Amino acid sequence: MTAGKPLMDVLTGRIPSRRPIWLMRQAGRYLPEYREVRAHAGSFLGLCDDAKLASKVTLQPLRRYDLDAAIVFADILLIARALGSKLDFRDSEGPVLTPIRSDVDVEALARRVDLERLKAVFETLVRVKKVLASHQTLIGFCGGPWTVASYMIEGGSSEDRLVAREAAIRRPDWFEELMRRLVDASIDYLAAQVEAGAEALQIFDSWAGDLPENLQEELIFEPVQAVITGMRKRVKAVPVIGFARGLGAAHRDFAIKCNLAAVSVEQGVPLAWVKSVLMPRLSVQGNLDPLILSVGGEALDSAVRRITSLLPAHSHVFNLGHGVRPETPPEHVGRLVETVRQADGAGGG
Ligand code: CP3
Repeated sequence: MTAGKPLMDVLTGRIPSRRPIWLMRQAGRYLPEYREVRAHAGSFLGLCDDAKLASKVTLQPLRRYDLDAAIVFADILLIARALGSKLDFRDSEGPVLTPIRSDVDVEALARRVDLERLKAVFETLVRVKKVLASHQTLIGFCGGPWTVASYMIEGGSSEDRLVAREAAIRRPDWFEELMRRLVDASIDYLAAQVEAGAEALQIFDSWAGDLPENLQEELIFEPVQAVITGMRKRVKAVPVIGFARGLGAAHRDFAIKCNLAAVSVEQGVPLAWVKSVLMPRLSVQGNLDPLILSVGGEALDSAVRRITSLLPAHSHVFNLGHGVRPETPPEHVGRLVETVRQADGAGGG
């Protein structure tokens, strides 16, 4: 049997020719060539809105390293802007959005997402798809409704997201309506990404771990499931990777309820549990600590050996437990990819 793309094989239950590897935030500030293009674009949003430059930075990590996937260069918060929110990224503070904290604030948002404002993302997918090597997979993405809502409610980054978490507990009407609009918008957005050429999708619910167990069902599992089933009614079947960071033991329920092709787990999740509880049912992505990648050396080598020896290659997508940190020396990423390949043996898997 001729093997297909390693990442697609693992996501669809086939035996891959080798263990796939890609990294969350693989394009970004740790690469000097990214910083150069970013400076040329003038701003992060200017870069996201320019498909030519966005496709260039999407491909930068693939030029340096033997990775199995490209993830379209965009951001989970672009959808807020396409719903009418103001959005800005400031170097010192990160994202700044119109805070949403009342019925009036939600009603000021559009009912439907304006895909025209996201057209650079679709054009970037088209451009990247044309030049990807045959073994590489093109990944599209969106944020989980809860995570995007939390940034919209806070009006940007916040250390403990207390305003958003309090809204999640109290559940005022405006909060429910905001979540519904984000579900609908994410369906339209992901379906359009598949139409533009995305072969697999990842949903980043980065702040899932903020919620107590009794709220996970309604604010994580159900909205993410609604996004996936809504999208699947529109476009051909594509595998979905779910990253609900911080769920711990609840990753199992999340994966089953959302019918995920793979579940992406943070660095605190024990590998023996991953293998015995998650892997018999589905593929797992993760979970090298991004700080270990930044530290490098023997700490990196031994952490990689531990993951590759404990998790079988046919059900595993090598990745980090969260995104690449900006201070990571680029050569550590090269070393990581080589170590993963060596650990699995030449052509092995
Ligand atoms: O290689 C890739 O993964 C490319 C695309 C990508 C970006 N953001 C580019 C980006 C992806 C998949 C994201 C997802 C994203 N964005 C998440 C989910 C993953 C996670 O990290 O938890 C979240 C929460 C965001 C929101 C966001 N975007 C914040 C809070 C910030 C500011 C803090 C920071 O990390 O800079 C961003 C900015 C951002 N998004 C940058 C990049 C490359 C840095 C912008 C710059 O160049 O100045």
